[in-house]
Amino acid sequence: LSSVEVDVSAIEPGQAIKTIFRKQPLFVRHLTPQEIQEANAVPLGDLRDPQTLAERTKEGKPQWLVTMGVCTHLGCVPLGAAEGENKGEYGGYFCPCHGSHYDTAARIRKGPAPLNLEVPEYAFTSDTVIQVG
Ligand code: FES
Repeated sequence: LSSVEVDVSAIEPGQAIKTIFRKQPLFVRHLTPQEIQEANAVPLGDLRDPQTLAERTKEGKPQWLVTMGVCTHLGCVPLGAAEGENKGEYGGYFCPCHGSHYDTAARIRKGPAPLNLEVPEYAFTSDTVIQVG
């Protein structure tokens, strides 16, 4: 299976991009310090699929959140990666199909989805380039 390289240098804090990985949408998000703080402030006991932001990002790079753009309910593409889109009640992503809300670590917080948005295999190949897959 093929991997894909993404240059993240132009993604400003607070912005995200939507690209394609293995024919599926992939979100790359540059979290602001406040979004990182929000994610870290959530008690794990409040989470349906308990994972810390640190478990969902690479060491030393908590600001880069890389996830599939595929709702874990029935596979719709959540909103929130593009400018002006609804980020949902928890400031991350919102799936309009049946109303799943994901937080700033793309963890499921409300609605029918059972799991957090999936973090694919990836690695930084430089400070500004990631290789996914
Ligand atoms: Fe996303 Fe149902 S597919 S909430």
